Amino acid sequence: MELDLRNKVVVITGAARGIGAVIAQRFAAEGARVVAFDLAFPDPAEGVGVEDGQGEELPVEQVVCNVADPESVQAAVDEVAGRHGTIDVLVNNAGINVEGAVADIEWARWKACMDVNVGGVFLMSQAVAPLMQAAGGGRIINAASFAAIVPSVASAAYSASKSAVVQLTRVLASELGPWDITVNAYAPGMVPTAMNGFAEMPTEAQDRLLDTLSLRRWETPDDVANLLIFLASDQASYITGTLLDVSGGKLATQIPSRAYGR
Ligand SMILES: NC(=O)c1ccc[n+]([C@@H]2O[C@H](COP(=O)([O-])OP(=O)(O)OC[C@H]3O[C@@H](n4cnc5c(N)ncnc54)[C@H](O)[C@@H]3O)[C@@H](O)[C@H]2O)c1
Repeated sequence: MELDLRNKVVVITGAARGIGAVIAQRFAAEGARVVAFDLAFPDPAEGVGVEDGQGEELPVEQVVCNVADPESVQAAVDEVAGRHGTIDVLVNNAGINVEGAVADIEWARWKACMDVNVGGVFLMSQAVAPLMQAAGGGRIINAASFAAIVPSVASAAYSASKSAVVQLTRVLASELGPWDITVNAYAPGMVPTAMNGFAEMPTEAQDRLLDTLSLRRWETPDDVANLLIFLASDQASYITGTLLDVSGGKLATQIPSRAYGR
Protein backbone atom coordinates (compact mmCIF):
# COMPACT_ATOMS: atom_id res chain seq x y z
CA MET A 1 0.00 0.00 0.00
CA GLU A 2 1.42 3.36 -1.05
CA LEU A 3 0.89 6.10 1.57
CA ASP A 4 1.75 9.11 -0.53
CA LEU A 5 2.31 12.22 1.58
CA ARG A 6 4.70 13.93 -0.83
CA ASN A 7 4.43 17.73 -0.66
CA LYS A 8 1.59 17.64 1.87
CA VAL A 9 1.91 20.52 4.32
CA VAL A 10 1.95 18.98 7.78
CA VAL A 11 1.90 21.02 10.99
CA ILE A 12 2.84 19.17 14.17
CA THR A 13 2.50 20.92 17.52
CA GLY A 14 4.84 20.20 20.41
CA ALA A 15 7.43 18.88 17.97
CA ALA A 16 10.63 20.21 19.53
CA ARG A 17 11.20 16.98 21.44
CA GLY A 18 9.66 13.67 22.49
CA ILE A 19 7.09 11.91 20.34
CA GLY A 20 6.43 15.07 18.30
CA ALA A 21 10.05 15.40 17.15
CA VAL A 22 10.07 11.82 15.89
CA ILE A 23 6.70 12.19 14.19
CA ALA A 24 8.05 15.29 12.42
CA GLN A 25 11.04 13.36 11.10
CA ARG A 26 8.84 10.46 9.99
CA PHE A 27 6.47 12.73 8.05
CA ALA A 28 9.50 14.44 6.49
CA ALA A 29 10.81 11.01 5.46
CA GLU A 30 7.50 10.49 3.62
CA GLY A 31 8.24 13.60 1.58
CA ALA A 32 5.87 15.94 3.44
CA ARG A 33 6.64 19.61 4.03
CA VAL A 34 6.72 19.56 7.84
CA VAL A 35 6.36 22.56 10.12
CA ALA A 36 7.00 22.03 13.84
CA PHE A 37 5.27 24.31 16.35
CA ASP A 38 6.59 24.57 19.91
CA LEU A 39 7.25 27.02 22.73
CA ALA A 40 10.99 26.94 21.95
CA PHE A 41 13.47 24.83 20.01
CA PRO A 42 16.83 23.42 21.10
CA ASP A 43 20.07 24.57 19.60
CA PRO A 44 20.36 22.97 16.12
CA ALA A 45 23.75 21.59 17.14
CA GLU A 46 21.97 19.39 19.69
CA GLY A 47 19.53 18.04 17.08
CA VAL A 48 15.76 17.90 17.59
CA GLY A 49 14.64 14.53 16.34
CA VAL A 50 15.63 11.14 15.07
CA GLU A 51 17.94 10.45 12.23
CA ASP A 52 16.85 8.77 9.06
CA GLY A 53 18.57 5.67 7.71
CA GLN A 54 21.27 7.81 6.09
CA GLY A 55 22.26 9.45 9.38
CA GLU A 56 20.87 12.79 8.22
CA GLU A 57 18.36 14.86 10.10
CA LEU A 58 15.63 15.76 7.67
CA PRO A 59 14.57 19.37 7.19
CA VAL A 60 11.68 20.45 9.40
CA GLU A 61 10.64 24.10 9.61
CA GLN A 62 10.26 25.54 13.09
CA VAL A 63 7.69 28.10 14.21
CA VAL A 64 7.49 29.30 17.80
CA CYS A 65 3.90 28.95 18.97
CA ASN A 66 2.10 28.62 22.27
CA VAL A 67 -0.94 26.50 21.44
CA ALA A 68 -2.73 27.80 24.54
CA ASP A 69 -2.58 31.41 23.32
CA PRO A 70 -5.10 32.43 20.62
CA GLU A 71 -2.92 35.22 19.18
CA SER A 72 0.18 33.07 19.05
CA VAL A 73 -1.77 30.29 17.30
CA GLN A 74 -3.28 32.59 14.69
CA ALA A 75 0.09 34.25 13.96
CA ALA A 76 1.80 30.86 13.56
CA VAL A 77 -0.92 29.46 11.31
CA ASP A 78 -0.87 32.66 9.20
CA GLU A 79 2.91 32.28 8.86
CA VAL A 80 2.55 28.73 7.51
CA ALA A 81 -0.31 29.74 5.20
CA GLY A 82 1.83 32.61 3.89
CA ARG A 83 4.75 30.29 3.23
CA HIS A 84 2.96 27.19 1.92
CA GLY A 85 -0.52 28.39 0.89
CA THR A 86 -2.39 25.83 2.99
CA ILE A 87 -2.18 23.18 5.70
CA ASP A 88 -3.16 19.65 4.67
CA VAL A 89 -2.53 17.81 7.94
CA LEU A 90 -2.60 19.06 11.51
CA VAL A 91 -1.24 16.85 14.27
CA ASN A 92 -2.22 18.26 17.67
CA ASN A 93 0.55 16.56 19.64
CA ALA A 94 1.46 19.29 22.16
CA GLY A 95 0.52 18.35 25.69
CA ILE A 96 1.56 18.60 29.31
CA ASN A 97 1.15 16.20 32.19
CA VAL A 98 -0.11 17.71 35.44
CA GLU A 99 -0.17 15.25 38.32
CA GLY A 100 -1.87 15.69 41.67
CA ALA A 101 -4.79 14.38 43.69
CA VAL A 102 -7.99 16.38 43.46
CA ALA A 103 -7.53 17.27 47.13
CA ASP A 104 -4.16 18.93 46.43
CA ILE A 105 -4.06 20.22 42.90
CA GLU A 106 -3.95 23.99 42.57
CA TRP A 107 -6.45 25.69 40.30
CA ALA A 108 -3.68 27.28 38.19
CA ARG A 109 -2.13 23.88 37.43
CA TRP A 110 -5.52 22.33 36.61
CA LYS A 111 -6.24 25.26 34.30
CA ALA A 112 -2.82 25.08 32.61
CA CYS A 113 -3.45 21.42 31.79
CA MET A 114 -6.86 22.20 30.29
CA ASP A 115 -5.53 25.24 28.43
CA VAL A 116 -2.74 23.32 26.68
CA ASN A 117 -4.25 19.86 26.21
CA VAL A 118 -7.82 20.80 25.26
CA GLY A 119 -7.55 24.53 24.58
CA GLY A 120 -4.60 23.90 22.28
CA VAL A 121 -6.54 21.39 20.18
CA PHE A 122 -9.50 23.78 20.07
CA LEU A 123 -7.49 26.86 19.07
CA MET A 124 -5.32 25.07 16.52
CA SER A 125 -8.31 23.36 14.90
CA GLN A 126 -10.29 26.61 14.82
CA ALA A 127 -7.39 28.43 13.13
CA VAL A 128 -6.53 25.68 10.63
CA ALA A 129 -10.03 24.50 9.64
CA PRO A 130 -10.76 27.48 7.33
CA LEU A 131 -7.64 26.65 5.28
CA MET A 132 -8.75 23.02 4.97
CA GLN A 133 -12.31 24.07 4.13
CA ALA A 134 -11.00 26.33 1.36
CA ALA A 135 -8.90 23.43 0.04
CA GLY A 136 -11.84 21.02 0.23
CA GLY A 137 -10.20 18.49 2.52
CA GLY A 138 -7.73 17.81 5.29
CA ARG A 139 -6.75 15.75 8.28
CA ILE A 140 -6.77 16.70 11.95
CA ILE A 141 -5.17 14.15 14.27
CA ASN A 142 -5.32 14.72 18.02
CA ALA A 143 -3.16 13.25 20.80
CA ALA A 144 -5.43 11.80 23.44
CA SER A 145 -4.03 9.17 25.76
CA PHE A 146 -4.76 5.82 27.28
CA ALA A 147 -5.70 7.96 30.29
CA ALA A 148 -8.79 9.04 28.35
CA ILE A 149 -9.93 5.40 28.49
CA VAL A 150 -8.72 4.32 31.95
CA PRO A 151 -7.45 7.07 34.29
CA SER A 152 -5.06 6.54 37.18
CA VAL A 153 -4.83 7.96 40.69
CA ALA A 154 -3.62 11.58 40.75
CA SER A 155 -4.35 12.11 37.06
CA ALA A 156 -7.59 14.11 37.34
CA ALA A 157 -6.42 17.08 35.28
CA TYR A 158 -4.58 15.06 32.63
CA SER A 159 -7.26 12.35 32.26
CA ALA A 160 -10.11 14.84 32.14
CA SER A 161 -8.25 16.93 29.55
CA LYS A 162 -7.60 13.90 27.35
CA SER A 163 -11.21 12.69 27.61
CA ALA A 164 -12.24 16.17 26.53
CA VAL A 165 -9.93 15.86 23.52
CA VAL A 166 -11.82 12.71 22.49
CA GLN A 167 -15.22 14.41 22.65
CA LEU A 168 -13.88 17.51 20.90
CA THR A 169 -12.54 15.21 18.18
CA ARG A 170 -16.00 13.71 17.62
CA VAL A 171 -17.67 17.12 17.45
CA LEU A 172 -15.02 18.46 15.05
CA ALA A 173 -15.42 15.35 12.89
CA SER A 174 -19.14 16.00 12.53
CA GLU A 175 -18.78 19.73 11.93
CA LEU A 176 -15.99 19.38 9.34
CA GLY A 177 -17.28 16.27 7.55
CA PRO A 178 -19.04 18.32 4.83
CA TRP A 179 -15.61 19.56 3.66
CA ASP A 180 -14.07 16.06 3.60
CA ILE A 181 -11.93 16.89 6.61
CA THR A 182 -11.41 13.89 8.87
CA VAL A 183 -10.72 14.32 12.56
CA ASN A 184 -9.42 11.49 14.72
CA ALA A 185 -7.79 11.00 18.10
CA TYR A 186 -5.24 8.41 19.15
CA ALA A 187 -4.37 6.93 22.52
CA PRO A 188 -0.72 6.01 23.10
CA GLY A 189 0.01 3.94 26.17
CA MET A 190 3.51 4.30 27.60
CA VAL A 191 6.23 5.93 25.52
CA PRO A 192 9.26 6.78 27.68
CA THR A 193 9.88 10.53 27.26
CA ALA A 194 10.82 13.53 29.39
CA MET A 195 7.11 13.84 30.20
CA ASN A 196 6.98 10.66 32.25
CA GLY A 197 10.54 9.48 33.00
CA PHE A 198 9.50 5.80 32.63
CA ALA A 199 12.97 4.80 31.43
CA GLU A 200 14.60 6.24 34.57
CA MET A 201 12.36 4.38 37.03
CA PRO A 202 13.73 1.51 39.19
CA THR A 203 13.47 -1.87 37.45
CA GLU A 204 10.66 -3.12 39.71
CA ALA A 205 8.55 -0.05 38.94
CA GLN A 206 9.20 -0.50 35.22
CA ASP A 207 8.20 -4.17 35.49
CA ARG A 208 4.93 -3.27 37.21
CA LEU A 209 4.04 -0.97 34.32
CA LEU A 210 5.22 -3.36 31.58
CA ASP A 211 3.11 -6.10 33.20
CA THR A 212 -0.02 -4.15 32.17
CA LEU A 213 0.80 -4.55 28.46
CA SER A 214 -0.12 -7.43 26.15
CA LEU A 215 2.96 -6.64 24.07
CA ARG A 216 5.14 -6.09 27.19
CA ARG A 217 7.59 -3.56 25.83
CA TRP A 218 7.78 0.20 25.99
CA GLU A 219 6.04 1.93 23.14
CA THR A 220 8.26 3.89 20.77
CA PRO A 221 7.46 7.19 19.06
CA ASP A 222 7.70 5.23 15.79
CA ASP A 223 4.79 3.05 16.92
CA VAL A 224 2.77 6.25 17.13
CA ALA A 225 4.16 7.67 13.88
CA ASN A 226 3.18 4.53 11.96
CA LEU A 227 -0.47 5.13 12.87
CA LEU A 228 -0.37 8.87 12.22
CA ILE A 229 1.18 8.49 8.77
CA PHE A 230 -1.63 6.10 7.84
CA LEU A 231 -4.30 8.40 9.28
CA ALA A 232 -2.87 11.31 7.29
CA SER A 233 -2.94 9.36 4.03
CA ASP A 234 -5.66 9.07 1.38
CA GLN A 235 -6.10 5.44 2.45
CA ALA A 236 -7.62 6.62 5.74
CA SER A 237 -10.17 8.87 4.01
CA TYR A 238 -13.20 7.02 5.45
CA ILE A 239 -12.01 7.03 9.08
CA THR A 240 -13.27 9.92 11.16
CA GLY A 241 -14.48 10.70 14.68
CA THR A 242 -12.62 7.75 16.21
CA LEU A 243 -10.25 7.19 19.11
CA LEU A 244 -7.55 4.76 17.98
CA ASP A 245 -5.86 2.75 20.72
CA VAL A 246 -2.12 2.46 19.99
CA SER A 247 -1.10 1.26 23.46
CA GLY A 248 0.24 -2.27 22.89
CA GLY A 249 -2.82 -3.77 24.55
CA LYS A 250 -2.57 -1.83 27.81
CA LEU A 251 -5.15 -3.45 30.06
CA ALA A 252 -6.80 -5.14 27.06
CA THR A 253 -7.08 -8.12 29.40
CA GLN A 254 -7.10 -8.23 33.19
CA ILE A 255 -3.66 -9.77 33.80
CA PRO A 256 -1.69 -9.80 30.52
CA SER A 257 1.53 -10.69 32.40
CA ARG A 258 0.22 -14.27 32.88
CA ALA A 259 0.99 -14.91 29.20
CA TYR A 260 4.64 -14.17 30.08
CA GLY A 261 4.62 -16.54 33.07
CA ARG A 262 4.83 -13.59 35.48
N1 LIG B 1 4.69 9.70 26.40
C1 LIG B 1 3.61 8.96 26.61
O1 LIG B 1 3.67 7.84 27.13
C2 LIG B 1 2.26 9.48 26.19
C3 LIG B 1 1.16 8.65 26.41
C4 LIG B 1 -0.09 9.09 26.03
C5 LIG B 1 -0.23 10.34 25.41
N2 LIG B 1 0.86 11.11 25.22
C6 LIG B 1 0.64 12.42 24.60
O2 LIG B 1 1.52 12.56 23.50
C7 LIG B 1 1.89 13.94 23.36
C8 LIG B 1 3.41 14.07 23.33
O3 LIG B 1 3.93 13.56 24.56
P1 LIG B 1 5.49 13.44 24.88
O4 LIG B 1 5.64 12.29 25.79
O5 LIG B 1 6.29 13.49 23.61
O6 LIG B 1 5.71 14.77 25.73
P2 LIG B 1 7.00 15.73 25.86
O7 LIG B 1 6.79 16.45 27.14
O8 LIG B 1 8.26 15.00 25.63
O9 LIG B 1 6.79 16.74 24.63
C9 LIG B 1 5.72 17.64 24.59
C10 LIG B 1 6.08 18.82 23.73
O10 LIG B 1 4.95 19.73 23.75
C11 LIG B 1 5.46 21.05 23.90
N3 LIG B 1 4.47 21.94 24.50
C12 LIG B 1 4.03 21.94 25.77
N4 LIG B 1 3.18 22.96 25.98
C13 LIG B 1 3.09 23.62 24.78
C14 LIG B 1 2.38 24.78 24.36
N5 LIG B 1 1.59 25.48 25.20
N6 LIG B 1 2.51 25.18 23.07
C15 LIG B 1 3.31 24.49 22.21
N7 LIG B 1 4.01 23.39 22.56
C16 LIG B 1 3.90 22.97 23.85
C17 LIG B 1 6.69 20.88 24.81
O11 LIG B 1 7.54 22.01 24.74
C18 LIG B 1 7.29 19.61 24.26
O12 LIG B 1 8.20 19.86 23.21
C19 LIG B 1 1.22 14.68 24.53
O13 LIG B 1 0.01 15.24 24.11
C20 LIG B 1 0.98 13.57 25.53
O14 LIG B 1 -0.08 13.87 26.41
C21 LIG B 1 2.10 10.72 25.60
